Amino acid sequence: MDVFEALKTRLELREYDPRPVPSDVVREIFEAARLSPSGLNSQHWRFIYVDSRDDLKTLAEISLSGKWVSGCSFAVVVLTSPKYPWHLLDAGRVITHMQLAAWNRGVGSRIYTGYDEKAMRQKFTIPSEYHIACVVGFGYPKRRVVGRKSRQPLETFVYKGRVGQPLEF
Ligand SMILES: Cc1cc2nc3c(=O)[nH]c(=O)nc-3n(C[C@H](O)[C@H](O)[C@H](O)COP(=O)(O)O)c2cc1C
Repeated sequence: MDVFEALKTRLELREYDPRPVPSDVVREIFEAARLSPSGLNSQHWRFIYVDSRDDLKTLAEISLSGKWVSGCSFAVVVLTSPKYPWHLLDAGRVITHMQLAAWNRGVGSRIYTGYDEKAMRQKFTIPSEYHIACVVGFGYPKRRVVGRKSRQPLETFVYKGRVGQPLEF
């Protein structure tokens, strides 16, 4: 899939088809993570792959804003090291790499950031040196994805030379 086509068509989904994502596609998604750039090439991220129905159910139970994760084929808990001041920037990039690689194979995804942190750390034995950046749920879309993105027009946020002066295209 053309990269710009992927950017245009990918929506963040809440409803998934229960069929599993094949292991070669899962591997490709993690390979996309591996290829992601990071500050000082520090590659401090760590990922916990979660695919059992019981664990996905637990993830949903201890989530505050991602109950939909119980319907995913699998989820990935993304950890970063706060030792690096830019760790959340790296997280954003690596997550985007994974989501685009998934969409290239027809696999949808969505992230959530609200959860009971103590329960997450206990359940997945996450040591205190790692920050939990988010959980990303993956799976085939329940229905054909057609939708329009709700986004502001370019003029409202692209400036020329100084803040407030719109760049004319
Ligand atoms: C930093 C960040 C945090 C998000 N947190 C949540 C969340 O907690 N729960 C959720 O369901 N979606 C979450 N989302 C998904 C956004 O709601 C979604 O990306 C946005 O609505 C645009 O969706 P669209 O690309 O399908 O238009 C988050 C997205 C980002 C980038």
